[in-house]
Amino acid sequence: MKRKILFSAIAFFCASVAISAQSKKAIYLDNTQPIELRVKDALSRMTLEEKVKLCTAQSKFSSHGVPRLGIPEIWMSDGPHGVRMEILWDSWGHAGWTNDSCTAFPALTCLAASWDPKMSAVYGNAIGEEARYRRKDVLLGPGVNIYRTPLNGRNFEYLGEDPFLASKMVVPYIQGVQQNGVAACVKHYALNNQEKWRGHINVELSDRALYEIYLPAFKAAVVEGKVWSIMGSYNQIRGEYACHNNLTLNKILKGEWKFDGCVITDWGGAHDTKQSAYNGLDIEMGTWTNGFTSNKAFAYNDYFLANPYLKMLKSGEIPVSNVDDKASRILRMIFRTAMNVNKPYGSLASEEHHNVGRKVGEEGIVLLKNTISLLPLNVSKYKTIAVIGENATRKLTEGGGSSELKVKREVSPLQGLTEKFGAAKIKYAMGYASGAVSYDQVLKSKLNADSLRAAAVKLATESDIVIFVGGLNKNTQQDSEGDDRRSLALPFGQNELIAELQKVNKKVVLVMLSGNAYEMPWINQTTTLVQAWYIGSEAGRAIANVLAGEVNPSGKLPFTFPVKLADNSAHSFGAISYPGDSINQVYKDDILVGYRWHDTKKIAPQFPFGYGLSYTTFVYGKATADNKKMTTDGKITVSIPVKNTGTVKGKEIVQLYINDQKSTEMRPEKELKAFDKIELNPGEEKVVSFTIDKTALQFYSDVKKDWVAEAGKFTVLIGASSRDIKAKVDFELQ
Ligand code: GLC
Repeated sequence: MKRKILFSAIAFFCASVAISAQSKKAIYLDNTQPIELRVKDALSRMTLEEKVKLCTAQSKFSSHGVPRLGIPEIWMSDGPHGVRMEILWDSWGHAGWTNDSCTAFPALTCLAASWDPKMSAVYGNAIGEEARYRRKDVLLGPGVNIYRTPLNGRNFEYLGEDPFLASKMVVPYIQGVQQNGVAACVKHYALNNQEKWRGHINVELSDRALYEIYLPAFKAAVVEGKVWSIMGSYNQIRGEYACHNNLTLNKILKGEWKFDGCVITDWGGAHDTKQSAYNGLDIEMGTWTNGFTSNKAFAYNDYFLANPYLKMLKSGEIPVSNVDDKASRILRMIFRTAMNVNKPYGSLASEEHHNVGRKVGEEGIVLLKNTISLLPLNVSKYKTIAVIGENATRKLTEGGGSSELKVKREVSPLQGLTEKFGAAKIKYAMGYASGAVSYDQVLKSKLNADSLRAAAVKLATESDIVIFVGGLNKNTQQDSEGDDRRSLALPFGQNELIAELQKVNKKVVLVMLSGNAYEMPWINQTTTLVQAWYIGSEAGRAIANVLAGEVNPSGKLPFTFPVKLADNSAHSFGAISYPGDSINQVYKDDILVGYRWHDTKKIAPQFPFGYGLSYTTFVYGKATADNKKMTTDGKITVSIPVKNTGTVKGKEIVQLYINDQKSTEMRPEKELKAFDKIELNPGEEKVVSFTIDKTALQFYSDVKKDWVAEAGKFTVLIGASSRDIKAKVDFELQ
């Protein structure tokens, strides 16, 4: 009898264990479990084939999940300024959905021009909400490639010429996106500083230029921003493609920076199975496309990390541990995004998001000239306001490449100005025409340039004041992906038109929309100039609010405007430096990029990095330091009073640069190491303080192959721009 009871007890025990195991959810499905346990558990349940599948695309913008285990696929979408319209499964065509119209936020140069990391946080959260609502797990942005040449077609997508400014502005954007359960994908890592020959050009440069100029914004994105994915760029770096590059991906990104996320190719950036396996690639997207066209349909099984990779794993040529690392990273990203049940629901094209877009635009607009105080416009003085220029009406959220958007609305400058000042006063003339937007060809306009110009000049002659809205646009060889500009000049005959307008009317306000610098042959006759970027859905309202004085402009340039192209660093060392010899390119300007070049070589820019005016004036007092000797692990705090001496409230961006008076290796004349944007009421004074430590004094030694801060004398330069230094303080690093 006893034996029977014992057996039935044992049977009951086993059954209950089995049931509890059955009813207890698998760890990977249990959202209360830590992500690392879920990754391990999921990996332990996957077959080799399923692990390999995770590493490649299944469609144009999605990569495989594990259907058998209920692990969803990953959906990705461009871009840095808004969530792109839905794309077809296996081609670049638009799917034609009717529920994917979005908010176009300002291009990132405009965000950078705000010099306000708080704006980045708001921007990142808003675009993250839109990506979340559109059920995207990865947002393919932000871009942080350094502005090295003003000809680069994609500078409008990036954060300017200075690694410190870009580093400070990119972190909050990433955190804002990812708090919505959407992975940001910082791009294009790395040295994709031009579009010409982007698919293969091999970039050679010093370690110093790499570490001091081109990597810091990516490092900040990874180490401070905790970005969950990063996009390898198309180009080569020291002979290896960036999408599978031992130096940048294994040694620096996953080694030094301890990146725990996914490396995703640019679309078509992978070129070899073993290199993809061993040199740090995790997800292969878009192979056999060049970012614009596809030349092999449904090729997913042939991807380098698909069947060829599986074969090498099965044969033992590549150890299974190789795919386990990739699969773990991909699962980690899935648990952070698609399988993260705590993520909010997001929202699309809401009024709140349009308000964010307008606010970023208002904070980023830069007032460059206002010599006769035409601005803010005293509209009651004028009966007729001529608005002239194709950019006053042209849709600028379309085109430009992968950052193209289908918007719920785009308020053009003409619409914004008409809304603000009343239709009765506004008369419009196109003035110049640029042709259609297209990826790979420059389409000429059918309109007659002479008649357009004549009509505009006539209107200007008859009007009280002229608002010219010009600049560049998203055409190929303008501000667009896939190719570079051919010159620094404004296109479509704008220079001649601007000169004519300024001849026939003494009141001309130039409003320029671009993501790049341009030559200004007319500047000496210009009294009023506003750099207004690509602001997106609310462009017209942001511009009208600034011109009307409802918003006091507070933006400052995130990159230098050179007088002429030859004054730029990249264009000072022959073709090998830019655009390269079609195979190789050498960054001979090294660390002297942007103002580092202009200020060290004493080449006066048209408008300097960090420059921007206000409708009020600011006076800086004397700078003081709390001590003059910094120990190696010490700090010093530099303070300076800034006063609003004008009649309206305004914001001022106070900049701190460092000059190393004596160093064993060449250093730029100055380097940005801190900044603060403060708001002051008329008559109000604030003391701005910056605390710096030796990291602000370091340079990357090509000799020691490490960051060094050499003892000796330094100078802190406090400026309203890189060339408008208001105060200096000398101190010594012991
Ligand atoms: C493009 C771009 C990249 C974009 C990707 C997907 O070629 O270089 O920025 O995210 O392909 O459209």
